[in-house]
Amino acid sequence: MKVLITQEEIKKRVEELAEEIRRKYKGKELVVLILLKGAFVFAADLLRRLEGVEIRCDFIKASSYGTSTESSGNVQLNLLPSLDITGKEVLLVDDILDTGLTLKKVKDWVLEQGAKNCETCVLLDKPERRKVPFKADYTGFEIPNHFVVGYGMDCAERYRHLPYVAILE
Ligand code: IMP
Ligand code: MG
Repeated sequence: MKVLITQEEIKKRVEELAEEIRRKYKGKELVVLILLKGAFVFAADLLRRLEGVEIRCDFIKASSYGTSTESSGNVQLNLLPSLDITGKEVLLVDDILDTGLTLKKVKDWVLEQGAKNCETCVLLDKPERRKVPFKADYTGFEIPNHFVVGYGMDCAERYRHLPYVAILE
């Protein structure tokens, strides 16, 4: 395992992302939908820096059945938020934007529910891997095409608790 992004680098970048989001939504209502499971650590750090935004948060879970390191492309939503998002401004928070299939599916679903708009925030982006065009509104770090773990991200449910992002070799 090789550390790709240190704890300090993550902390600094999360503060910057939160500041950008806070500036945009200060004093406004925002529904934050956290993609399980991978985004739970990132979201916990990010949300605690969004004081001044009227946040309601909920969770959503998508799976694409496949091997532990390769998505099958068939994305299913298998846990839906209980909050009503009709007419709301929504921010989707995910750990990593890879092929783009998951966030595209979830964002389309959010808009189909009648949300007023839907922005996306990801800690990591692997642009080389895209299968459908997708750009996040807020991106922590662009990284090369390596499988990474830590800070919420797993390989077969391991390593989510690591405080840094590492390349799994
Ligand atoms: P996408 O649908 O291919 O964009 O995949 C997004 C999801 O795949 C993420 O939310 C992650 O859960 C998972 N994923 C993609 N790349 C990695 C990685 O390098 N490490 C751990 N999980 C990953
Ligand atoms: Mg995952």
